[in-house]
Amino acid sequence: MAYSDKVIDHYTNPRNVGTLDKSNVKVGTGLVGAPECGDVMRLQIQVDDNNVITDAKFKTFGCGSAIASSSLATEWLKGKSIDDAMKIDNMDIVEELALPPVKIHCSVLAEDAIKAAINDYRVKNGMAPIEAEKAH
Ligand code: FES
Ligand code: FES
Repeated sequence: MAYSDKVIDHYTNPRNVGTLDKSNVKVGTGLVGAPECGDVMRLQIQVDDNNVITDAKFKTFGCGSAIASSSLATEWLKGKSIDDAMKIDNMDIVEELALPPVKIHCSVLAEDAIKAAINDYRVKNGMAPIEAEKAH
């Protein structure tokens, strides 16, 4: 498997690895797994009173593409409103990281983790969860 330079960069120097306090009501946590390979990704967001994401952290037990996808996702999330973050599409990640077809599910994992984290935050703060628009 030939990884792109961007994947190698995020893999060797992952951004925002870590953990946010799950018990904080302003923290949303998404924990998802890929049935294709058994890899697991946890992505967390810290949200301010205007529903803007001020911090994001991840931990991924998985392949290089999954780690790079989640690292990139945390970079993209910071500064976005939860509504704009909900629009992040896994194909944006595929394009940015130049993932080959067999690694597309790694980016799906990141999109699913983002949406799960946002919905966890929404539910914790009295908002209805948003249904994912597409089934992968
Ligand atoms: Fe499991 Fe990618 S197949 S690490
Ligand atoms: Fe399974 Fe990347 S997440 S191979």
